[in-house]
Formats: sequence, C-alpha cells, structure tokens
Amino acid sequence: MKELEITSRFVVYENIDELPGEIRGLMQKAIEARKNAYAPYSKFKVGAALWLENGEIVIGNNQENASYPSGLCAERVAVYQAGAKYPEVKINALAISAASDNRTVLTPIPPCGACRQSLAEYEVKQEEPIALYFMGETGKIVKAPSVKDLLPLLFDKSNL
Ligand code: THU
Repeated sequence: MKELEITSRFVVYENIDELPGEIRGLMQKAIEARKNAYAPYSKFKVGAALWLENGEIVIGNNQENASYPSGLCAERVAVYQAGAKYPEVKINALAISAASDNRTVLTPIPPCGACRQSLAEYEVKQEEPIALYFMGETGKIVKAPSVKDLLPLLFDKSNL
C-alpha cells in the first residue's frame, strides 16, 4: 500500500489589470461573449474565449434550452467550435467569465466537471497544456496552468 499525492498550483490575480497583456485581451473577449449568452432559464451567463497557437480567438457562451439537458456550457461551445474550425491548431489558453442577472458574481467561476473532461480531451490530443483563467463578473482571476490541475486522475484514451 502507498499513498499518492497530487499537487496543483494556481495563480490568483487581484483583478483584470494584473493579467499579462495578451490574457487581459482574451478575458475581455470572454466578457464580451458572456453578454451574448442565451441563458433565459438560469440567468447565469458564461463567456469563454480560446487563444489558439495561430493567433485566432474562438469564443463561446452558454446556450440553454427549454429541455434543460439539451443546453451547453460556454466552454464546450468554444472548444467544439475550435475543434470544428481549426482541428489541427493547438490551444494556448482559455479565459472564462461568469455573471448572473440575480446577483453580482464576485468569486472566480471554474469550469464544470463535464467541461473539464471535454477540455482534457484536447489537451491530451495536443500534448501541451491549456492554461485556464477564470473569473466571475469582476474581482479575482484564478489561473490553472493545465486542465490536469482541475482534473487529476483524468480518464482519457490511454484508459480505453
Ligand atoms: N455553465 C457554463 O456555461 N459553464 C460552466 O462551466 C458552468 C455552467 C452554464 C450552464 C447553464 O447554462 C448555466 O451556466 C447554469 O448552470
């Protein structure tokens, strides 16, 4: 018997102005995308922006549905769009911002478990980490250097 310890390290930025320039621009795209989210049921709007190795930015936002499970999170809308449009281009980073019509979201909102799994697929495929930066509507931003930091012991093609 042995114990396994897995450590993740995160960076916390106080606000958007503290982010490195190119990531600040990426977060601004996520904020813009968030404003176009279709979230009439939860009133919780999420925007995502991916920065690709070829310089392109691909955005996504949550798309809800009267049949609730048919909706999709912002992160998956973005990553599947990138997969469809630029199948061979690596993803450098993902910025996420979330806001609610009911309250001011002051804490960083991380991607849900299903989005972590979907993002992990592309990180494994490209064999290079995708850095994740996530925030609420305002305030602190958390950086996870890799999807693996949010999803240790992940399930991937090596398990099949
Ligand atoms: N949502 C996202 O877009 N991303 C996440 O990672 C968490 C949740 C959306 C789904 C749904 O439209 C709303 O937020 C409330 O769960």
